[in-house]
Amino acid sequence: MKLKKVIKWTGIAILVALVLAFLALFIAYWRSTNECFRNAGSVNNPMKAIVHCEYGSPDVLKLEDVEKPVPNDNQLLVRVRAASINPLDLTIRGPWLIRPILGMRKPKDTRSGVDYAGVVEAVGKNVTQFKPGDEVFGGKNGALAEYVCVLADRSVVLKPANMTFEQAASVPVAAITALQGLRDKGKIQAGQKVLVNGASGGVGTFAVQIAKSFGTEVTGVCSTRNVDLVRSIGADHVVDYTKEDFTKTDQRYDLIFDLVGNHSFSERRHILNPNGICVMAGIGGAGWHDGMGIRLAGELDAYVRSRFVSQKFISYIAQFNKRDMMVLGDLLQSGKMTPVIDRTYKLNETADALRYLEQGHARGKVVINLE
Ligand SMILES: NC(=O)c1ccc[n+]([C@@H]2O[C@H](COP(=O)([O-])OP(=O)(O)OC[C@H]3O[C@@H](n4cnc5c(N)ncnc54)[C@H](OP(=O)(O)O)[C@@H]3O)[C@@H](O)[C@H]2O)c1
Repeated sequence: MKLKKVIKWTGIAILVALVLAFLALFIAYWRSTNECFRNAGSVNNPMKAIVHCEYGSPDVLKLEDVEKPVPNDNQLLVRVRAASINPLDLTIRGPWLIRPILGMRKPKDTRSGVDYAGVVEAVGKNVTQFKPGDEVFGGKNGALAEYVCVLADRSVVLKPANMTFEQAASVPVAAITALQGLRDKGKIQAGQKVLVNGASGGVGTFAVQIAKSFGTEVTGVCSTRNVDLVRSIGADHVVDYTKEDFTKTDQRYDLIFDLVGNHSFSERRHILNPNGICVMAGIGGAGWHDGMGIRLAGELDAYVRSRFVSQKFISYIAQFNKRDMMVLGDLLQSGKMTPVIDRTYKLNETADALRYLEQGHARGKVVINLE
């Protein structure tokens, strides 16, 4: 009798919770709006920016007049001279899994881009590290625009004089991903054998060079057309994945930096030394491609199974910070790292640039020039 009551009330509680959750999602969906609709037609001091009011393919991107930002006491106003795009900019498609963060029905943040390089136009009264005229690069949401306002103590640093704006703008997201993956997650050490799977893309071309800067022996994995490119940026060995499976070998690595995730836990474990680390940084080139779901499941499986073996399988999301931006600046300044730029587009061609990136076969970085 008692058990029956417990079951009945548990059922009712679950039903009520489900109805409430559905209602909350329904309300969140229909309340979801953005500045396109709130501020329509009210721009006082305009600048050009890439804006998307709706989710969808790169076709939803528009070049529009938006309010030019005004720096507060702790910010710099930067005139953007170049920006670059990354797979994360494809969140314009509004994947349902992350819509609770991005906005349920419409994107909360209508601006795009993160990586930029440009010239400081004005500084807030508390800013002492920068002055108007300084050339800088960094990461800030909404970088696909004529101007960005950035906090002086965040991820903005002086641009090395030996780098063009396009080169510097190609660095932030991709290179910080490579640096933090190799150094912090992979515990990279001089003399180690390192394999970079996906060595020819935006992150991979930085990963090869950063791994070399740590004094390691680097093997890059790429397709036939990119073999020479990957060798030219310093890889000691190159595996052409169209001809050879890098897991079917007697070679052992101390560190795998994996941007593709197209091999199983067992296959990768087979080529790792007993205390080796596999850093699972990505699941292939930008855009939707076959087998992505399987790759994601495979990375989760590898993470769980590696709890029970001596090798580590780790995933992570890169985070901006000024200290690492300065490390990247030093690598550029010293010539240990030189960006590989695949294609350059104008700001009004951003949709074409994203369409190209989305094919998943960029060779290095895709850059937007605002000069
Ligand atoms: N964890 C993080 O915080 C973080 C941050 C940034 C990016 N990511 C992820 O890292 C991955 C790479 O980003 P990205 O900016 O480098 O993308 P990307 O520039 O679009 O990468 C394109 C490259 O991937 C290569 N590729 C595709 N399939 C391959 C395969 N089977 N084997 C080897 N290489 C292959 C392509 O070479 P081919 O043309 O020769 O096939 C191309 O050169 C993405 O999954 C991205 O989401 C993660």
